[in-house]
This record gives sequence, C-alpha cells and structure tokens, in this order.
Amino acid sequence: MRRFSTALISALALSCVALTTVAAGAQGLGGSPDGKKMKNPVASSAESIAAGKAAFTKNCRFCHGADAKGNGPMAPEGTKPSNLTDATWDRGSTDGEIFMVIRDGAGPKFDMKGYKSKMTEPEIWNVVNFLRSLQAK
Ligand code: HEC
Repeated sequence: MRRFSTALISALALSCVALTTVAAGAQGLGGSPDGKKMKNPVASSAESIAAGKAAFTKNCRFCHGADAKGNGPMAPEGTKPSNLTDATWDRGSTDGEIFMVIRDGAGPKFDMKGYKSKMTEPEIWNVVNFLRSLQAK
C-alpha cells in the first residue's frame, strides 16, 4: 500500500509539472523557471544529433543559416535570427529553456513562431541535442 501511494503521488506531481509547463507555454515565456526545471528526456546520441540536424536543415536553416550562426538567407526583413552556436542565450541556456523557445516561439515579438504543431516533442529534443553538439566544437 505504501509503495502504491508513493507511485500515485509521484504521478500526480508529474502531471502538475506538465500542466504548469503548458500554462507557461501559453504565455509564450522563454527563459522561464519552468524551462530551467525541464529535463531533456532524449539522450544525446549520434542518432539523436543526426535527426536533429535533419530537422534543423528542414525547418530552421532559412532563418538561422545552415551553420546555425544566424545568417540564414531568407530571414524576414527586419528580423535578427540568433546565432545558435555562441554562448549568448537571451532566453536561457538550459536544454529545457531552448526546448521551450523552439516549441512556443521566441517571444515577445514572435518573429520566430513555435514549432508545436509542426514537430513532435522528441523531434524538438533532437534539435536541442544537435544545437548542443555545435556548442561543444
Ligand atoms: C522565420 C525565421 C525563423 C525560423 C524559421 C526559426 N527561427 Fe529561431 N529565431 C528567429 C529570430 C528572429 C530569433 C530572435 C528573436 C528575438 O531575439 O527577438 C530566433 C531565436 C531563436 C532561439 C533563441 C536564441 C537565444 O539566444 O535565446 C532559438 C533557440 C531558436 N531561434 C531556434 C530555432 C530552431 C531550432 C528553429 C527551427 C526548428 C528556428 N529557430 C526557426 C527566427 C527564426
């Protein structure tokens, strides 16, 4: 019985975290405490990084550039896509914070829209792992 209730409590706690995350996402806040707490559930493997690179090339390259340095050829006029290979992360540098920007978009102006309807969460984590692999170099 003791075991069972512990499991139940952690399940409840987990769903609370999920709900809070959704609520914060709706406000479009990047760099939030929720993003800081979020753990990357996808281990950074060669497969994950390769899948992330493919998704980046398909979805992000035209604004952020093939090398992710923020010089994409087709960024809308007047926008400044961030360099994703440097140490500057305006909206937070943890995996969870980067995940939230990709999922929900880059507020408050949203020159970059969120990818929630275009990519699954594991796909977004793959992109986070890919971006991390660029930092290491
Ligand atoms: C329409 C152009 C566009 C596309 C497409 C786009 N972005 Fe962005 N992105 C931007 C702009 C512009 C900013 C900076 C917004 C600002 O600072 O106001 C940004 C910011 C970011 C940031 C925040 C950087 C920081 O310093 O905090 C991340 C992370 C990011 N983009 C990742 C991605 C990924 C990954 C994709 C593809 C899934 C993507 N972006 C697609 C335009 C784009």
